[in-house]
Amino acid sequence: MSAIVLVGAQWGDEGKGKITDFLAEKANCVVRYQGGSNAGHTVEVSQEKFMLHLIPSGILYPETLCVIGNGVVVDMGKLIEEIDGLQKRGIDTSNLRISLRSPVVMPYHKRIDELEDRYTRIGTTKRGIGPTYADKINRIGFRMGDILTGGECFRERFKAQIEYKNRIMEEIYQEDGFDCQQMLNEVLGQAEHLKKYLADTSYLVYTAIKEGKKVLFEGAQGTLLDIDHGTYPYVTSSHPIAGGACVGTGIGPTNISKVLGVAKAYTTRVGEGPFPTELNDFQGEILRDKGQEYGTTTGRPRRCGWLDTVILRYAVRINGLTDLAITKLDVLDSFSTIKICVAYRYKGQLLTEFPDNIAILDDCEPEYIELPGWQEDISAASSIEELPPNARAYVAKIEELTGVKAAIIAVGPKRKQTIVNSPLFT
Ligand code: GDP
Ligand code: IMO
Ligand code: MG
Repeated sequence: MSAIVLVGAQWGDEGKGKITDFLAEKANCVVRYQGGSNAGHTVEVSQEKFMLHLIPSGILYPETLCVIGNGVVVDMGKLIEEIDGLQKRGIDTSNLRISLRSPVVMPYHKRIDELEDRYTRIGTTKRGIGPTYADKINRIGFRMGDILTGGECFRERFKAQIEYKNRIMEEIYQEDGFDCQQMLNEVLGQAEHLKKYLADTSYLVYTAIKEGKKVLFEGAQGTLLDIDHGTYPYVTSSHPIAGGACVGTGIGPTNISKVLGVAKAYTTRVGEGPFPTELNDFQGEILRDKGQEYGTTTGRPRRCGWLDTVILRYAVRINGLTDLAITKLDVLDSFSTIKICVAYRYKGQLLTEFPDNIAILDDCEPEYIELPGWQEDISAASSIEELPPNARAYVAKIEELTGVKAAIIAVGPKRKQTIVNSPLFT
């Protein structure tokens, strides 16, 4: 049995797309289990760059079954755009499958997301993610399967929902409501277009695992954006953590063999919320410039700071990480010294565990250790031995502080700029 869950160990954008694509060469099946088009996963192959939002990052391998699980909220318009965009570039999407149970992001969800964020100031991606998950939990959402069937029962529920949303638009936001028939036609047309991809994906993934196939669950966002275990309320509305892979696909936990945490060699965050190691100086700018830290989905500059191992230890605990993938080590090339946060100072107290309250996190000062930099270009290193001693020492320090081995080290965005320390799919 070989099923690996890949999760972001920080606040997202850790390089999950790149690592998923790298592992997908050996995987038979890649499965997204949560999030939606808020995700922006970048894969670079030769001179080509692919930005994936809803489609699993295994899609560049034609033989790999790519599954959008029930935990993913699907913006059908965006998904069709993404499929068309890939096909135009010669990528075969016939191996894509979408869960019949996936909740659908409706146009009203996106508008409400924009309007609500004016008050909540979370800094969402405005992709309708929160409102869609809220409707799912409130049992007033629509799933891919409901729309596909398109029967009278669905149409009645849909009309009732538009009436309800229109009251919100008019009474709370003083905006015109939505045209029910127009939206109905739009979503029915989109569902028809996506029909050939819809399937009972839980069964497909279960069967793949039982047949001994190699399955990779690709997380979106990251541990600290988890709705329960992240820096609430500055989080997304799903479960990016490893546990989310079971709920978001319909696979039992006993089927999972490994959990790979993807962590940048430093820390970034997009949107609002506390960030203890944030650097608001030239060092932060170096990280942003060299790391090209601009949002894949929204283009926003990412906030940058030193590596925080309080966060990584928390990610080890919350996800049960068995392995680490450390990405973007090359971005640290120019620093003469590099800091790692090992604990927080809070009102004179030393905290070694990640606080469960953001009011505390907001007041935490990082306690750093300092390591010497390597000050050379490592982007061509293809094995751990080819890394300069100080870069190796940096990786070894992360392993020591987290208690987890770095199975993979990335030294650039391309496939070949990936060092494998221990193979994950055996
Ligand atoms: P994801 O959301 O976790 O998939 O990450 P993003 O794709 O949003 O952001 C990661 C960015 O870093 C992308 O532009 C990747 O191409 C790039 N990247 C990934 N790994 C490396 C690496 O090791 N070095 C460098 N320089 N860039 C990397
Ligand atoms: P990937 O998969 C980084 C952040 C948003 C905002 C918060 C809530 O590329 O790592 P949402 O639209 O989800 O309701 O926004 O979560 N966020 C991300 N940050 N990477 C992502 O995805 C993100 N997806 C959402 O910036 O702070
Ligand atoms: Mg991203």
